[in-house]
Amino acid sequence: MKVLLIGSGGREHAMAWKLAQSSKLTELFIAPGNAGTADVGTNVNIGVDDHDDIVKYALDENIDLVVVAPDQPIVDGLCDQLRQAGVTTFGPSAAAARIEGSKIWSDNLMTKYGIPTAESEPFSNSGVAMEYGHTKPEGSLVVKADGLAAGKGVIIPETYDDLDTAIVGMLDHGAFGESSSSILLAERMSGPEASVFAFVNGEHVSAEVASCDYKRAGDGDVGLNTGGMGSYGPPEFWTPELAAQVRKDILEPAAKALVAENSSFSGVLYAGLMITEAGPKIIEFNCRLGDPETQILMPMLQSDFLEICLAVAENRLSETTVEWSTKPHTFVVAVSDGYPGSYDTGVEITGIEAAEDHGVVFHAGTASNDDKLVTSGGRVLGVTGLGDTIKDSRDAAYAGIDEISFEGMTFRRDIAERAIQD
Ligand code: AMP
Ligand code: GLY
Repeated sequence: MKVLLIGSGGREHAMAWKLAQSSKLTELFIAPGNAGTADVGTNVNIGVDDHDDIVKYALDENIDLVVVAPDQPIVDGLCDQLRQAGVTTFGPSAAAARIEGSKIWSDNLMTKYGIPTAESEPFSNSGVAMEYGHTKPEGSLVVKADGLAAGKGVIIPETYDDLDTAIVGMLDHGAFGESSSSILLAERMSGPEASVFAFVNGEHVSAEVASCDYKRAGDGDVGLNTGGMGSYGPPEFWTPELAAQVRKDILEPAAKALVAENSSFSGVLYAGLMITEAGPKIIEFNCRLGDPETQILMPMLQSDFLEICLAVAENRLSETTVEWSTKPHTFVVAVSDGYPGSYDTGVEITGIEAAEDHGVVFHAGTASNDDKLVTSGGRVLGVTGLGDTIKDSRDAAYAGIDEISFEGMTFRRDIAERAIQD
């Protein structure tokens, strides 16, 4: 089969790496890809937002399956456009992707179908929002942009002043453009967080898998929000009972609710959860695989990823086995100095081969320059370690990271640390 994967990050390198292991694959193309995806397939110079060019390429090259990885093209309807052109496609419709693309739509869905989440109110007028906010205890609300905001659309204010600033910034000053022309004020929850993933075809939900990601730049979860600094899984608190509860109370009802709302889901459903004292609750749903979770999920997936994607695209997921390893995996990301602020690119990277003795190296912001590997982004690459214990997997990932070097390379040193019992 000829497969075209859409995207360019570390998530996409991990997906390409796994697709390339399928005996069904004859040729893999990645648009636009990175230097890592070029090792397992052929990069195609088309951007993820160039929908017409993607459809044309798929038709001209007789692509058998397109796999769409990032949120923006999914929310903008790329999967619908591909299917309308007759191309077999893995990824949800724009209607189903509203579960990620509009936090207000998603919250209404959860409320209507009794899926546990933070109590939330939508607003489009800043005065009304501030008035409501001041009826709640100081520091008890979070402010969320309605639309996609590159993972930065949530503000957690500690004081009424900060709350007002966040509301005015989003609603009156367009902090996230159109995406923040409406907002949600949500009850602030607390507890450990988990990212849970399952393949979904209508009401059918595959076996699920859980992981944890690290969003903040600095050790101890300080500093700015990033695209993700590392991940590990399965989480130490992820018991069979909790998994069964999440399946019964969240994943299966969400799949059913989407069908009932004429927005049947086809793809990967990502439940961002907080395990509160009152049980697991949704922080947000996403309509795709997570980054950097995918860099452990693909090594954990025991089944043929291409076969699963094809089965979902052909609406026969229930006939396919989805099996996940329960062995611990840890993924650590190396970033350019200054990230998520400004940083240099074009810096030479060395040590990849030595790192591969310890784990799997997944590229994100890398490019080839003559015969050198150079940085081309803030999150440059990462290493996934596998072990019999979470400590072993963590040691393997860090041993790999220690082999890699580029000027200004930084990384968090506490990925998966909290999961290790002394
Ligand atoms: P999101 O962009 O929705 O993934 O949110 C980013 C982060 O904000 C989450 O990982 C949580 O740590 C935090 N967050 C979002 N919503 C809430 C909430 N209702 N209560 C507490 N923390 C939240
Ligand atoms: N891991 C966060 C995300 O993919 O949105």
